[in-house]
Amino acid sequence: MEVQVEIFSSKGGVGKSSVALALSYALAESGNYVLLIDKDINGYVSRIVGIRGPGLAALIAGDGEPTMAITRRKMNTGNLTVVQLFGDFPTFVRLLPKLHHDPSIGLKIDRFIDQVLEDFDFVLGDNPPNITALDEVSVHVPSYTRHVRDGKATNVYVTDYTEQSMESVQNYALHLQSIMGGDVALVVNMIPPLPDEVYLALERARSLKKQLNSKYMALALFSETLYLRKDPEKADDFMNVMRRLAEGISSGSSCEVIQEL
Ligand SMILES: Nc1ncnc2c1ncn2[C@@H]1O[C@H](COP(=O)(O)OP(=O)(O)OP(=O)(O)O)[C@@H](O)[C@H]1O
Ligand SMILES: [Mg+2]
Repeated sequence: MEVQVEIFSSKGGVGKSSVALALSYALAESGNYVLLIDKDINGYVSRIVGIRGPGLAALIAGDGEPTMAITRRKMNTGNLTVVQLFGDFPTFVRLLPKLHHDPSIGLKIDRFIDQVLEDFDFVLGDNPPNITALDEVSVHVPSYTRHVRDGKATNVYVTDYTEQSMESVQNYALHLQSIMGGDVALVVNMIPPLPDEVYLALERARSLKKQLNSKYMALALFSETLYLRKDPEKADDFMNVMRRLAEGISSGSSCEVIQEL
């Protein structure tokens, strides 16, 4: 049985995809077979790992070859597979009416994902902001948010450290957790590397951790390298935080990872 790790946020651009990819690398490096499902309409993660094309859903809807939306790579003794669900926004809006009119497409996508899932130790989902099981795609393609409903996932909530973002992620996380349960990991990201700000972020993070009953917590500083180079593999500072978080999640022992200045 695979372990599911879903990455959520209530605000866009706070680092979900970077966290999803970095955790996937970390888990694969340490010998696991890892699947990362990129559910971003614009396929941010897929672009970084070199997948091009319309994405799995449009390929299946158009009788294309689904494997075009998948890339695999060996990492140490492990393996990372990425599936791109959608290609880009124009492809996505062309796909929606097809999903409405032909329920067999959603079923085919579900069946394909079900088969793929069986081969992995960890399955990660990189979600758009504020995803819920009531979203339009979920209605037609249950696997889009199935992980959200089956209660076995570790749910990683990513936020910046502003009061407003932390309040909105709290409301969002409490809502999702009340529906799906599962362990909570809190990632406070993009903290300016200044002692006072790190202290403030830590205070706020600990208070939110309590509210969400989080088993895992990680604080990551703003990384110039990550910002400029995009691929977490090239940013050791960010990767090291995510390696320690991945260790906690994979061993199931709670942790508090605080990146040093
Ligand atoms: N700790 C960090 N330091 C510096 N830059 C970061 C950090 N984390 C993420 N970024 C950068 O910020 C941008 C947004 O990150 P990312 O795409 O991971 O966020 P997201 O939450 O997935 O966004 P979206 O809501 O659009 O899916 C990217 O350019 C990424 O490289
Ligand atoms: Mg993203």
